[in-house]
Amino acid sequence: MHLPSFMWLWRIAAWSMGLTVMLFFGLAAVGLVLRRQRLAPGARPQKWLRILHRGLGIALVLLIVNLLAIGLVGTLGHYGSLGHSWHLPVGLIVVALSFASAWSATRIHPQRPWARPLHLRINSLLFVALALVSLSGWSVVQKYMPQ
Ligand code: HEM
Ligand code: HEM
Repeated sequence: MHLPSFMWLWRIAAWSMGLTVMLFFGLAAVGLVLRRQRLAPGARPQKWLRILHRGLGIALVLLIVNLLAIGLVGTLGHYGSLGHSWHLPVGLIVVALSFASAWSATRIHPQRPWARPLHLRINSLLFVALALVSLSGWSVVQKYMPQ
């Protein structure tokens, strides 16, 4: 039986991943500016930057859920089952960390001083996990390349 090539789907995954990484660095930049403004004496974080950070954050989570859907649909379509490489656990960890990051962001409040450091720690882990999911995605996509 001739199986359709999933190359087009993995191409979308690769482009979405590029966008995800750009959003991540954008979030880090805006987040650090917000932090500097918050810590400067007499200054307050700018409202539009806070809204921008939140908007980019929501876009990041949506893109990652989209990548999860692509990965699951593509893998089920090709093999009929999941779990063919370490890309699966790393992918699930990325999804969990991005949800955890968004959740910790909703906890940020003067009365919850633990929420900001938690948000930053989760995001450092997310950085490592994103690097690993790209590497493993890059390696599993090789077998779909036209020979
Ligand atoms: C997952 C989606 C994300 C959401 C919804 C989100 C939301 C937020 C919110 C609401 C704040 C508080 C801002 C304020 O003071 O008004 C914040 C702070 C911050 N975020 Fe995020 N964020 C997300 C992802 C990220 C990522 C991926 C990074 C870094 C790569 C990041 C870095 C920061 C930094 C550095 C701060 C400032 C902490 C401080 O003031 O000490 N955020 N974020
Ligand atoms: C946040 C990023 C990503 C997430 C959450 C994610 C998630 C997943 C998941 C859950 C699977 C099913 C794996 C299995 O059951 O074995 C999968 C498969 C796959 N993903 Fe991703 N993925 C991401 C990024 C990427 C990237 C950047 C590429 C590269 C273009 C990629 C290429 C693939 C390929 C080729 C498969 C099929 C696996 C195989 O043939 O063994 N993914 N992905």
